[in-house]
Amino acid sequence: MNNFVYDIPTKVYFGENQLGHLHEELRKYGKKVLLTYGGGSIKKSGLYELVVDEVKKAGMELFELAGIEPNPRVYSVNAGADICKKENIDVLLAVGGGSVIDCTKFIGAAAFYDGNAWDILTEKTTVEKCLPIIDILTLAATGSEMDSGGVISNPETKDKIGMMYPVMQPKVSFLDPTLTYSVSRYQTACGAADMLNHILEVYFNMNQDLFMLDTVMEGLMRTIIKFAPVALDKPHDYEARANLMWTSSWAINGFVNGGKRQAWSCHPMEHELSALYDITHGLGLAILTPRWLTYCLDETTVSKYYQYGVNVFGIDPTLLPMEVAKMSIDMTAEFLFKTLGLQSTLTEIGIDSSNFELMAKKSVQGGLAYAFKPLNEADVTAIFTACL
Ligand code: NZQ
Ligand code: ZN
Repeated sequence: MNNFVYDIPTKVYFGENQLGHLHEELRKYGKKVLLTYGGGSIKKSGLYELVVDEVKKAGMELFELAGIEPNPRVYSVNAGADICKKENIDVLLAVGGGSVIDCTKFIGAAAFYDGNAWDILTEKTTVEKCLPIIDILTLAATGSEMDSGGVISNPETKDKIGMMYPVMQPKVSFLDPTLTYSVSRYQTACGAADMLNHILEVYFNMNQDLFMLDTVMEGLMRTIIKFAPVALDKPHDYEARANLMWTSSWAINGFVNGGKRQAWSCHPMEHELSALYDITHGLGLAILTPRWLTYCLDETTVSKYYQYGVNVFGIDPTLLPMEVAKMSIDMTAEFLFKTLGLQSTLTEIGIDSSNFELMAKKSVQGGLAYAFKPLNEADVTAIFTACL
């Protein structure tokens, strides 16, 4: 097991009606706040008015950046950074899903950079400072509310790049499960697929690691499998939405991967899909996950699948390990495609093989050679092909 540093400096207000604390938190950070949000869901739900009231209560001046896209674009980052520089913004308030929070993290960083924010993503410059970020999460999926990373797309270069800097970690996150009642069936399913994959990326690891972390991850995965269908059936079920919301944060906040170091596999591949085809991140992951699991299964890795099958899906432990492993992949696919109802192939969502080689080449640049099963360009192309 590797040494690690555990440091998650985000204060979380979890639960219904916690938003009444927003003005107290905001006013700690200054006088001018930039509110960032997406395409309008916060106006439809009435959350926008609540937020504006809290800003008024804090006695602060309000500026706004609306229209942040799913798969947020670098030009939204630049637009936000321009407002920060022009208006001397003190604190950022991101209200939305992962896209809004991710974009806001880079706005906070780019506010201290004189140039195109894309230079941060391409590592032409580094991030040492970031404006303080408070967020109100409205979609349980990415964990951006409790991590220091973000992913930004550039439609001109057809790149989607993720980057982590500790200074971009949100200072305060408001996690009110009732704010996710209005999330569509499709986005709820994609969110569940995303958080499940965040755990699988760490769990499928052949190093000798902490039993305790594996056990926590198995519990988190069982939570998703138990409560995602409830949230789909009853969108206003508080317990289901609360369990999913807290799981999304803990799936990626640095706790479960403490001591477990290896490159993630499905995420680099998915980011190429959403970079080129602008698909929903969780959908791309859902399609990739069972094919990746199948591709990596062999005599050297089977024990991990056995553990997963027995402890997460309750498969009979007396069966042969390879049998359990194959059943665990089938049950994963069944959860993603039948229970969550997500589309199961790239063909169904209009993606053909024409860009597989290009996407494979870009996928491996981030270090897939160090993944659960080391993957080269040919391996990644084969996994994409299995998704057709
Ligand atoms: O834009 P609005 O109008 O708010 O609508 C959004 C959007 O259309 C809608 N939505 C959000 N909350 C809602 C709601 N609709 C109704 N009621 C609500 N309460 O949902 C749509 C999708 O939102 P988005 O923020 O794009 O989804 P998600 O949270 O899944 O974020 C996806 C982005 O995060 C990145 C992904 O790559 C993708 O760009 N990721 C970020 C990570 C991180 N920071 O650590 C890790 C992830 O692996 C991921 O890569
Ligand atoms: Zn993800």
